[in-house]
Parts: sequence; C-alpha cells; structure tokens
Amino acid sequence: MNKQPQGKTNAGYEGNGRRFRVEKLLAAAVRDMAQSRTEDAILQFVADYTYRITLASLAVVFTPDPDGWLRARARQGEGQLYLEERRINVAGGIGLAAAALSGERTLCHAADGPCPPETDPLRWRAWRERAAAHGFRWLVLVPIRYKNRSLGLVNYYTSRREQPSAAGREAVENMALVAAGALHGLRLREETLLTLTRALEARDDETQAHARRVALYTQRLAEEVGVRDPEEAQFLRWGALLHDVGKIGLSDAVLRKPGPLTPEEWREVIRHPRTGYHLLADLEFLGGAREIVLAHHERWDGSGYPGGLRGRAIPLGARIFTVVDAFDAMTSDRPYRRAVSVAAAASELRRAAGTQFDPDVVDAFGRIGEGEWENLRRQAEAGFFSPFGSAGGPG
Ligand SMILES: [Fe+2]
Ligand SMILES: [Fe+2]
Repeated sequence: MNKQPQGKTNAGYEGNGRRFRVEKLLAAAVRDMAQSRTEDAILQFVADYTYRITLASLAVVFTPDPDGWLRARARQGEGQLYLEERRINVAGGIGLAAAALSGERTLCHAADGPCPPETDPLRWRAWRERAAAHGFRWLVLVPIRYKNRSLGLVNYYTSRREQPSAAGREAVENMALVAAGALHGLRLREETLLTLTRALEARDDETQAHARRVALYTQRLAEEVGVRDPEEAQFLRWGALLHDVGKIGLSDAVLRKPGPLTPEEWREVIRHPRTGYHLLADLEFLGGAREIVLAHHERWDGSGYPGGLRGRAIPLGARIFTVVDAFDAMTSDRPYRRAVSVAAAASELRRAAGTQFDPDVVDAFGRIGEGEWENLRRQAEAGFFSPFGSAGGPG
C-alpha cells in the first residue's frame, strides 16, 4: 500500500541520479583544485567543471585586472568565438558583471527577458544580439569571493529553453568558494614574497617596481622561449621577483657605495646570489625559483659568478632572467644616466648575445617586438603582476 506510482518513482530516481552526478563532479572538482599549484590551473578547473556540471554551452572564468577590467582567463565549451572581446569593463560599476561582483550573489538572466535593473539598456541589447547569434538563451554569473574581496567571476551560458537548474547553480557557487580559498592561498604566498622584496627596497635603490617588472618580463619571455608548463612559469616569475633578495645580507657601506668598489667590497657583493639561495633554501614551494636566485649573475661565456657556469649549464630560467634584467636596467632612469629607448636596449642585447647572453633567448626577445615590451612596461607600472599564462595569448 506504500507502493508509489511508477511515474513518480522514476521522476524521483531521475532527480536523485542527476544530483548524484553533480555531487560526483563537484567532489572531483574539489580534489583537482586542492592539488593545483597555479592560478591558471585552478581557473581552468572552474571552467571545465562548470561546463560539465551545468551542461552549459560555454563557461568562462574572469579575474579582475588592477585597472578595473575583467579579463577572461579560462573557458570551456562551444561558441568560444563569442568571446572575441575578452575583457569587460567593470570600473564604472555598470553591467551585470559589476553587479554580480559587488552584489555577492549569483545572477541568472534570460536573453529574451527584460533588461535587468543592474545594467543599461544599450549594453543589454548589444549582449542579447550577440547571445542570440550563438544560440545562448540564459546567462548565469557566479562571483568568486574570498571574505570581502572579489577574486573573479564565473559566467556560463546555456542554450536550452528551460531556466538553468538551481542545483547546478548551487554546485557552481560551492565550487567558487573552494576556488576562492585556493586562489587566496596562492596570493598569500605571492604577497609574502613581495614583502621580502619590500624589505630589500628599504635599503636599496633597486626598487620593488624593478622586481615586479622583471617578474612580468621573465614570464613573457619564458613563454616565447617555449616554457609551457604553468608551474614552471610560476617558478621563473618568483625567481625573478626574488633575484636580489640576498642583498639583504650586504652592509650599507657596500650596498650604497656610489663609487667603485675595493676588491674586498666586491668579494662581499658577489656573495649575494649564494646568500639569497640559502635564505630561500627551505621554501620547498619555490621550486626552481631558487636556482634563478643562485645563477642570476652567471654569463653565457662563463665569466659570471658565483659558479662561473657556461652555456646551457646555466639554468634556463637564469638565462632568461639575465636578458630582461639587463633590459630593465637600460630602459630605467638611473641617478647617473637617462633611460635608453626599447630599440636601443634591444640592439645592445643583440650585441652581447653569445658573450653575456644565451643567443636563443635574445632571439626570442627580439621576436616579441618593441611595442609589446613598451606595453608590458606600462602594465607592470600599473600594478599588473598576476600570471598572464596562456589566456593572455590569442585564444
Ligand atoms: Fe644581483
Ligand atoms: Fe636586478
């Protein structure tokens, strides 16, 4: 007598089956994110699992840049052409993305519905047209927040008539919470590393701005040289950031001496790569970053220090770093001389290819082009520091 009608049982079973599927995917997402060691890896998992959990047509993950734009960092699904414009301006606080970010809540809108109060009608109409052209019927925006900081935004687009399920939205919200914790953990590390460079800045002319610039340059040049592994790229960026941390051990008399050094003072100076290496030796998470710190004054022809290493015996990261370090020194004003142009610096690098620098790395530097180097410099100055990764390139 408690036997339920067949139809209802099936519906119940189907509902449970669907929930079970979502829960399994969510558990897998948590596992994968817990093991991720780079921002790009975490963001890509968010895109992948959002796509699979919600059966969306397209999932995109954005993070905010320092200039108030959201930049697409990871995506999954069809209709990727939809994202020909990979940045959204949220600086003015208008639009659905801005509303989802600041309102700390998920938004869900039908492309054929009325213009939501959060956005202006012109932008809404433009979006509807683009969405319709790709067959998207619904847009869901889920903020990624840690405490009261906006770390990013997950957008997904569905093409079915019915509203995206509440269970799917909830799953993505839970995943966004896990991602926020993981991203926050990575940023804490970077902030700790920046603090180390700040301690040095208090004593040295080589400013933190220099450390940030060479970190950004190193990452870009590594990409051009063919470093594809994001974790490896992260080690290189950290190594560049920390390269002179060993100067903390130098006395003021030597560190700030304007004139030429005595042989004894020079012996003190050339210890700084080793000092830095030992200072960071126990920080397991820095991986290959420590080799860059140790080898950042080695020269291709073997005339550098502290090891006098030659050619490919110098770790690749250090060979990349020395090129951008010299580039940044030349293109920055110094008390005793003005900065030179990007073109002049590039030709100086070419002149020293094969003696001071790895010729292949100098070639890669030249392929990037002066305009882009100027651009990177401006970005570094505007506070860009986060990894650019693969999402920075053409999709
Ligand atoms: Fe140095
Ligand atoms: Fe430097």
